[in-house]
Amino acid sequence: MHQTTFAFGGLLGLAALGATALAQSDRHDSHIAIDNPADLTNEEGRRIYADLKDRMAASYAMSDMPEIDSYQTWPILNVAPYVSATHGQRYVNNYVNQAAAGYATLKPGERLPAGSVLVKDSITVTDDGRIFPGALFGMEKLAAGASPETADWRYFMVIPDGSIFGDTMGDNPDLMTYCHDCHLAVADRDYTFFIPEEYLAGN
Ligand code: HEC
Repeated sequence: MHQTTFAFGGLLGLAALGATALAQSDRHDSHIAIDNPADLTNEEGRRIYADLKDRMAASYAMSDMPEIDSYQTWPILNVAPYVSATHGQRYVNNYVNQAAAGYATLKPGERLPAGSVLVKDSITVTDDGRIFPGALFGMEKLAAGASPETADWRYFMVIPDGSIFGDTMGDNPDLMTYCHDCHLAVADRDYTFFIPEEYLAGN
């Protein structure tokens, strides 16, 4: 697990370069790390996200991926951005499209239908208080049999300059194989980890 997380951090280091491109006036690129995010309160997290979310939507939309171009109109399931250790120490949010409405109430062994899209966008907050849009992580349930090695889930990652960093069904699929490797741990919930309980809307 630790090793996976470490490898993942390396990849996100690269992804952070995308964030750098957005912050062109910033000279301290090497410091755009994700090791020590500030400890935001829920209120601060919400405020920061409110400030950034339009810009994030516009950036990810440059990827021209129809699956995600309206993700911010979907229900958001967390009450405030929360730290995701497994996705590079970023603050993340969870959105699901209409087809994936059953995501919140999945019973053991149940599967989401083809067309389900789960999106997690992210914000990087550095120790010295700088804030950047981070990568968007996506999972799409494909038609039965379309990708047996990933239980018909497609995994992709879009970085904040709009590039698709990797896509199990498109460019750089090899960069995305560790996604399913880790999500395998929750095969019983259709390979979804879900949201930490304390951040779940409605709790
Ligand atoms: C080391 C384990 C690990 C790796 C690697 C990983 N994830 Fe996750 N993923 C999680 C965990 C844990 C969650 C639950 C929320 C959280 O803590 O971030 C999650 C949540 C998600 C979600 C929200 C749906 C859900 O599972 O509830 C998406 C979408 C997602 N990950 C996409 C990806 C993509 C795309 C990759 C590869 C680029 C990836 N993940 C790699 C552990 C991992």
